Amino acid sequence: MAKSWVYALLRVLAPCVLAIVPLTGSEPSHRNISITLNPGLHIAPPEGDLLYVRSVGPNDSLHFLFCSQGAPTLLLIQSNNTQATVQVNWPQFLERNTSGSLRVAPQSSVVYSSALMFSRLWEYDGENATADPGLDPGPDLFPPYELQNLTWSRINLSTLSAMLCGTSRGSNGSICVQLSVFENWGRSELWPRLLHNPDSAQLMFWLDGLSPRSAHSRFLLELRAVGGTPLEMVQSVRSIDDEFTPSIFTVSQWLSNSSAPSSSPGSSPGSSPDLSPGFVQWKPVAYRDASARLEVASPLRHWSPLQQDPVSTATASGLVFGFYGNNTLTTAINISFGLSGEPFYTNYLSWTLLVGVGEPPLDSFSVLVWSILAVGLGTPLLLLLVGGIWVCARKLSAHVHSAYEPIN
Ligand SMILES: *[C@@H]1O[C@H](CO)[C@@H](O)[C@H](O)[C@H]1NC(C)=O
Ligand SMILES: *[C@@H]1O[C@H](CO)[C@@H](O)[C@H](O)[C@H]1NC(C)=O
Ligand SMILES: *[C@@H]1O[C@H](CO)[C@@H](O)[C@H](O)[C@H]1NC(C)=O
Ligand SMILES: *[C@@H]1O[C@H](CO)[C@@H](O)[C@H](O)[C@H]1NC(C)=O
Ligand SMILES: *[C@@H]1O[C@H](CO)[C@@H](O)[C@H](O)[C@H]1NC(C)=O
Repeated sequence: MAKSWVYALLRVLAPCVLAIVPLTGSEPSHRNISITLNPGLHIAPPEGDLLYVRSVGPNDSLHFLFCSQGAPTLLLIQSNNTQATVQVNWPQFLERNTSGSLRVAPQSSVVYSSALMFSRLWEYDGENATADPGLDPGPDLFPPYELQNLTWSRINLSTLSAMLCGTSRGSNGSICVQLSVFENWGRSELWPRLLHNPDSAQLMFWLDGLSPRSAHSRFLLELRAVGGTPLEMVQSVRSIDDEFTPSIFTVSQWLSNSSAPSSSPGSSPGSSPDLSPGFVQWKPVAYRDASARLEVASPLRHWSPLQQDPVSTATASGLVFGFYGNNTLTTAINISFGLSGEPFYTNYLSWTLLVGVGEPPLDSFSVLVWSILAVGLGTPLLLLLVGGIWVCARKLSAHVHSAYEPIN
């Protein structure tokens, strides 16, 4: 009953609050996207497709390249020229022995680039594990899935997304990655419903029917970041609002040191550095079922980024080698899915992350939260005011009354 009363009040108040709350964020930006599979090539390359997404804004162009020549990798290049395009020298690119086989023309227009690679998937028996792997001594690990060695499907394109799945010899099921790109600000329908902007792309990583190697399996994913300003730290941004991702009050952001905002989010809109740095952002939650919902949510944790050997990264990914060669700074991070005490892996696990340039999009307080605050703070004030007036009025009337009290 009390609840419905609050909702009724919210409904009345929400439009007023919406009108008062200044809409945060700058003017809405928009990009025009064109997508090409294996640009300049008329047959499918033997060892995996190369997807090219060209996303043109008012003053710049973004170039997303997604490739499964080796481990699945997303390369993001920002150019200050709206005419810039990516050129691939296919014979060299497929040979994988010359770097620079993939480049942006004009090359001098490149202002930022960074690649993110899904390198390894570890599995361990979590039955008696009190600590996660990564802690010393961690539990025994099964031999990892080296994602570069999986057999990857061709890229399956739909409107603004592309999917590929890999299978490993000797195990059932698949390991899949989906890329989504955006022309506008928005939020995907699927939990964790990350907020995205046109300067970002969303990646979803999932295990679909992959057979566990023990009855109490847990997984650990290693991601590698190459190029750009090295991504060296993970920052956790807290919020009191879990409207879009129930029970999750944190956003994790993998950033370079220079791009870390010194103050709390949203408080200094003018703080973006000149050179637009890149970011990787996620909510610390994975889902144990294809229909993501609260009951199948599992927390996850990350480990501190570490420097990695650039040669092994370039060997693992044709895209990294083709663009960067094999001496570009590389950092890696481990993500553990499911902490001790949580249900074990059965046959599905999904995790979503956002990759982009510029400031990572962050939710400002939603209308709902503002309304709750308004009701929460406004109601007592209103009561106080009404109460005050009432007391005053009574006092006054009592005074008036007493003034006219007849003297017996
Ligand atoms: C694009 O450039 C114009 C002129 O240089 C500038 O006024 C505008 O703010 C820029 N827009 C964006 C989105 O950076
Ligand atoms: C966990 O501990 C139990 C009891 O000590 C033992 O029987 C079992 O083999 C252990 N499991 C693993 C995976 O080590
Ligand atoms: C490609 O993706 C669509 C939609 O995501 C899906 O329905 C279809 O089965 C996929 N095709 C293959 C060959 O995986
Ligand atoms: C793969 O699935 C088949 C049929 O369900 C099953 O018999 C087999 O043991 C599975 N293989 C592995 C490695 O789990
Ligand atoms: C990730 O964890 C595995 C297993 O503990 C470890 O071998 C590897 O070095 C870790 N990688 C990073 C970047 O921490």
